[in-house]
Amino acid sequence: MIKTHSLSDLGTLVKKYSNVIVVADKNSAKYTLPLLELPKVQTLLIDGREQCKNIDTVVEIWKKFEALHLDRNSVAVNLGGGVVSDVSGFAASTYKRGIPYINVPTTLLAMVDASIGGKTAVNVDGIKNLAGLFALPAAVLIDIKFLDTLPLKEKMSGFAELIKMYAITKKTLDLTYLTYVISAFSGGDKMPLEEAILFSAKQKEKVVSKDFTEQGSRKILNFGHTVGHAIESLCLKKNIPLTHGEAVLWGMVAELYLSVKLLDFPMNEYNKFKAFAHEHYDIPQGILNKKDLPVLMSFIRNDKKNSGDKIYPVLLSHYGACRWDIPVSEEDVKDSIMQLILQEVYKRKLGCSLK
Ligand SMILES: NC(=O)c1ccc[n+]([C@@H]2O[C@H](COP(=O)([O-])OP(=O)(O)OC[C@H]3O[C@@H](n4cnc5c(N)ncnc54)[C@H](O)[C@@H]3O)[C@@H](O)[C@H]2O)c1
Repeated sequence: MIKTHSLSDLGTLVKKYSNVIVVADKNSAKYTLPLLELPKVQTLLIDGREQCKNIDTVVEIWKKFEALHLDRNSVAVNLGGGVVSDVSGFAASTYKRGIPYINVPTTLLAMVDASIGGKTAVNVDGIKNLAGLFALPAAVLIDIKFLDTLPLKEKMSGFAELIKMYAITKKTLDLTYLTYVISAFSGGDKMPLEEAILFSAKQKEKVVSKDFTEQGSRKILNFGHTVGHAIESLCLKKNIPLTHGEAVLWGMVAELYLSVKLLDFPMNEYNKFKAFAHEHYDIPQGILNKKDLPVLMSFIRNDKKNSGDKIYPVLLSHYGACRWDIPVSEEDVKDSIMQLILQEVYKRKLGCSLK
């Protein structure tokens, strides 16, 4: 299903549909639309910010589809990052009980993760992905030329999901290799980045193909997301700019801490991961402090990954070996978040990264 370097295939792919609409992110359309090479295609520009990943945007898309008389022989091409593929994928999959859609990811995060696997969703009252459905895209076309205009912060966001994919599927996490991959963001060789994107996209497809509706093994993709989504929701509420990937990165640090405590994940590996995280990412000031703990915990309690009153983050006994069935107490989760808060306080006081 995944095609790389094949934007030129899009023209051929959409030929079999009677009607085509490109749903693109308003903010980046000036960079991304010209690369599509779909002449005279109908386009809808939507506000692709996380705050607009909601039902109002879905209604806006449905109305446009209706105005253009789209039917089940039509296709929506989602051009943008994970917000566009989530919200427009949801709109397409529910419009007239579902029309096909094609994802053309334009962010690193969407290339390695969000555009693949058929999870579509919207946020409700600030709760991430509260409503959504599983509906596979008809195709995913990945082309790294979109990354040329992507801001560094967004590249680093996608890089976090890439780290996740290595951590959950490989027996070792080669931080030297990952540093080499990052160097593509500052003018270095692009080959390793391209390789890593392909690796991640294929791994995701493989995991999804074994458990499409997330009854079991697909849950490993949620590593870092129990705490990460809560941090992301908190920032959304406080209007603090934190990307999805940054939130997941700190979520992974917290969930590795829990893995050390509950599954004997090697402490030295945890320390190396934490040092790598602090070397390449910041927790912006004011995001996490002790008085936010109750709000964070209420987001975590609301998480779809829980069952009853138990919290089920993804834990690792070592890299590549994930467990999603270990109930974790609220106290332990709070403790893992307190560790993040303390690390940030120390880092700020010392003015250096934790090694
Ligand atoms: N469905 C899934 O499986 C899945 C997986 C992971 C994340 N997600 C979701 O994905 C969303 C995050 O997606 P994202 O990180 O791609 O962010 P995003 O869609 O918000 O895009 C990030 C920013 O990059 C800009 N942008 C996009 N492409 C660009 C380009 N080529 N050049 C310049 N600017 C560009 C956008 O305008 C936006 O400002 C979250 O809502 C998250 O919940 C979904």
